[in-house]
Amino acid sequence: YHETVTLNTGAIMPTVGLGTWKSAPGQVEHAVEFALKNGYKHIDTAYDYGNEAEVGQGIKASGVPRSEIFLTTKLPNSQHGTPEKALEESLAALDTYIDLWLMHWPAPMKHGRPDRSLNWIDTWKKMEAIYEKNKDKVRAIGVSNIGVKYLKELLKEAKIVPAVNQVELHPSCAQEALVQECLKDGIIVTAYSPLGSDNSPLLKDPVVSKIAAKYNVPTANVLISLQANRPGVTVLPKSVTNARILANFKILDLTDEEIKELNAIDETRHFRACKPHWTGWGSLGWEDQE
Ligand code: A2P
Repeated sequence: YHETVTLNTGAIMPTVGLGTWKSAPGQVEHAVEFALKNGYKHIDTAYDYGNEAEVGQGIKASGVPRSEIFLTTKLPNSQHGTPEKALEESLAALDTYIDLWLMHWPAPMKHGRPDRSLNWIDTWKKMEAIYEKNKDKVRAIGVSNIGVKYLKELLKEAKIVPAVNQVELHPSCAQEALVQECLKDGIIVTAYSPLGSDNSPLLKDPVVSKIAAKYNVPTANVLISLQANRPGVTVLPKSVTNARILANFKILDLTDEEIKELNAIDETRHFRACKPHWTGWGSLGWEDQE
């Protein structure tokens, strides 16, 4: 595996980053500080996580120079119509520039319902214009939760190819076709929920356990390493627990045979947003992507 990947902007993104979804404001400052003091150089947050201010404070408290850190945040669904305002708020809360600004979902929402007066591809065009004018504050732009069909629609109209597509990836949601489609277009893929999110049965899966026993590591390391071993893929394990933050940073070089075995864990198990053909994300009320 490689410790970093290079984005289509030329910027370097560290392969392993700390995820902070559901990391409460009271815990996340410490988690970010602790991670950065122990080797992490990549932090992922979002406007909608409600913890950007604490993430910014954790960065400062770590003493690690800002220039050594890769920081991602995301445009919320509720602000597809007002991306400038959302960006200003994110920048103010984080109190620093953003290395990567993602469209969180291709799903404009208003009061928890789809806002059909807006089109997410128009939002991308607005993000492009904002990026062009503010490259000192927004160093790259990208997308999240985009499937193959939407990716093709976007690339037909985009002036700027997204630097990253951040999606759910773990053995029950391998999304190999999507990953290959992104890489073909020079888009780095970032894996969220590499463990399968909270209380994941993948942590006790027999195949994962067998490989973890061989390397004498917790099962989480096998799952995180699986994503880090995929070329052009970066990975965001989330934890607010010191021991886990430390452990999750250790990446194994898995054999091709092990990677094959892990990716063959069937798709009927636990997952969050990813279901075969993305029927899951339709929970936002938008049409399925495939
Ligand atoms: P916590 O943050 O309380 O430590 P994912 O990254 O797939 O979204 O998974 C995040 C979930 O997995 C959180 O509930 C997190 O708990 C838990 N978790 C993170 N690291 C580990 C680990 N090494 N072993 C077991 N559970 C973990």
